[in-house]
Order: sequence, then structure tokens, then C-alpha cells
Amino acid sequence: MIFETIAQTGHEEVVFCHNPHAGLKAIVAIHNSVLGPALGGLRMWPYATEQEALDDVLRLSRGMTYKAAVSGLNLGGGKAVIWGDPNKDKSEALFRAFGRFVNSLNGRYITAEDVGIDVNDMEYVFRETDYVTGVHQVHGGSGDPSPFTAYGTMQGLMAALQVKHGHEEVGKLSYAVQGAGHVGMQFIKLLREQGAKVFVTDINPSLVQKAVADYGAEAVGLEDIYDVDADVYSPCALGGTVNEHTLPRLKCKIICGAANNQLSTEAIGDEVGARGILYAPDYAVNAGGLMNVSLEIDGYNRERAMRMMRTIYYNLGKIFMIADRDNIPTYKAADRMAEERIDTMGKIKLPYMGQPRFLGRMRQG
Ligand SMILES: NC(=O)c1ccc[n+]([C@@H]2O[C@H](COP(=O)([O-])OP(=O)(O)OC[C@H]3O[C@@H](n4cnc5c(N)ncnc54)[C@H](O)[C@@H]3O)[C@@H](O)[C@H]2O)c1
Repeated sequence: MIFETIAQTGHEEVVFCHNPHAGLKAIVAIHNSVLGPALGGLRMWPYATEQEALDDVLRLSRGMTYKAAVSGLNLGGGKAVIWGDPNKDKSEALFRAFGRFVNSLNGRYITAEDVGIDVNDMEYVFRETDYVTGVHQVHGGSGDPSPFTAYGTMQGLMAALQVKHGHEEVGKLSYAVQGAGHVGMQFIKLLREQGAKVFVTDINPSLVQKAVADYGAEAVGLEDIYDVDADVYSPCALGGTVNEHTLPRLKCKIICGAANNQLSTEAIGDEVGARGILYAPDYAVNAGGLMNVSLEIDGYNRERAMRMMRTIYYNLGKIFMIADRDNIPTYKAADRMAEERIDTMGKIKLPYMGQPRFLGRMRQG
């Protein structure tokens, strides 16, 4: 049934990689490479079944296509999973075997870190292939993407403020930030630098304490974050936190944060819009990490990275414009913008561009 599945999801290529000596069972999924090489992280997870591993890699790779396309990157969408337990099944052979499979794809897929993988694992992959991003900084890697993602989230927020309130004065509004981890903490810092009122929660009390002590945020309980009187709800922890239980409680006018898959369902996305809340689509807002890592392909440059982050402001502006133009919710507008770009850019490649010379022809006399 795999052909039927990938016909539905629109994938180009799905590669099953097996090396019994290294104990490797991996799947690489290339969803769409119209815009460029399919870049996406490698996840290692003890999936209960093969089907679960396949479903995950297909879903994640498709998501990467949309994120890259909406962000104006010349990248396609791909992802890889290793079926195994990151706490017990890691070895040099495993990652080098995986690296050789990546290399065999000849640059059609470029890998990176994702859940269950760290920079040391990537070092092994890097021994077998150049098609790796997120390697150590000594090899030209880009380092921790979180500050870039937080800065990009700020750009998305300013675009949302402009559309909703006609100004970009971040400090004039209040924010409910869920999750003070790598991205959330940096985002809180940026908000507080602008003088904004920030409510914070996290399952880790020491991170909440840090946000209070270092940046002057106000701590609230894990559940109270949905009830506080804040102008903006900013999910920076888990996915699915905008759902049928939380949405009726939110008092905000804008949802803008770094977490992936914030809307539990499409119906909830429709409901968000119907309630007059402006939703800044997550994958456009949090693209800073992908943008940052993408620069490793040409040679990483921090200044270029910061310039690139600022394009998130314009990308969000375009999404809001499409939502308005087509009278659709913003989450659908983001998908439409991505699909339109893939379609248009694919078509510019259609005309035959000629050949420099006729290879292999022998001319007489
Ligand atoms: N790191 C990046 O550059 C990047 C890029 C794109 C998207 N994202 C997404 O942004 C989100 C945050 O990423 P991160 O790198 O900061 O991760 P992180 O693990 O450093 O931070 C997540 C924080 O959320 C907290 N948390 C978990 N469950 C919670 C709950 N129920 N209520 C409150 N807090 C809770 C955790 O304790 C942790 O501090 C994730 O959804 C991630 O997928 C991150």
C-alpha cells in the first residue's frame, strides 16, 4: 500500500535503508524537491511499529516542504527516521551506515539534527557524507538555532501586530508565553527588552524562576496560562495547545509563538479566525531555525542569517494578505502561499534551455 499512501501525500521518493551489521533500519522521505534539495532533520525514535515510523517520516517531510516554500528558501522538504531507541541503540556504525545512505542520494536529501539526535551523532554521519547540516561549529556549522528562531518569532509578531493593531509597538501589549525553553526564554528576553508585560509558565520551575529573576516576567500556573488577560498567546512548548478546551478560554487577539503544530485540528484553525483572533501560522513564524541551518550549504554567515530572519516579517505579511484576498483562515493562506510558490517556480523550469553542445557527435572533415 506504500504507493497508494505516497500518492496521497504527494511524496517523490521514499527510501528504506537497511544495514544488518550496523543494526540500521531507517527511512528517508523526500516529499518535494521542486525548489531545491530536500532538507530536514533525522529523528531517532523507538516506534512501536514500522507503520508508525513510516507515518512519522511522511508527515514530517511534507511539513518541511511547506516551511521551506513559505519561507522563500530554495529547498525542498525531506526528513529521515531511524527506528531505534536513542538511549540504547546508538553506535558509530549506525550513524556512519546512515551517512552512507544519505550520500547515495547524491544531495537530493540533506540531513540535520532532530529529536533523539545530537551533534556527536552528526559527526559520525558527516564522516560519510557532506550532505549534513547542524555539524559542529568547527566544521562550519551554524550552532544553536534557538536565538534565531526567537528573533524570527519576533518578526512574525511585529507583522501580526501591524495587521491587527496598525502598529508594531511590541511593548504596548501583554503576552502569555507557554514554555521558557531554548526559544521561549530568548523570546521572553526580547519581549522584555521592549518593555512588554510577560506572563510565563513551564513544567520546569527553575526555568520559570529564571524568566522572573533575569527578565522580570510574571509566573503563572501551567493551566492558568490559557486564562490570563494577555493580548497575545505565544505557544513555545508543545504542539496542539490551541484546541477545543483551551480556545474558549483564550482572551488574546493574536496567537504567535515558536511551537510546531499549534492548532490541534483544521477546524480549530477555522474557529480561531471566526473568533476574531489573528493566528500567525507556526511554520512561517518559527522558520528561523531552518533558515539558519540552510546557510551552511553555501557557507555559514551570521550577518546573512540575521538578514534572513527579517524576511519572516514580510512572509507573514504576504500570508495575511492572501488570507484577506481569498477570504480564508491564515493557516490555509500559508499552505496556499507555499503551494503557489512551488507551482510557479516549478513552471519556470519547464522551457527547454538548450544544450551547450552536442555531446559525443563526431564531425567529419
Ligand atoms: N529550537 C528551535 O530553533 C526551534 C525551531 C523551530 C521550532 N521550534 C519549536 O519550538 C518549541 C520550543 O522549542 P525549544 O527548542 O525551545 O524546546 P525546549 O525543549 O528547549 O523548550 C520547551 C519548553 O517547554 C516546556 N514545556 C513542555 N511541556 C510544557 C507544558 N505542558 N507547559 C508548559 N511548558 C512546557 C519544557 O519544560 C521546556 O522548557 C518546540 O515546539 C519546537 O519544536 C524550535
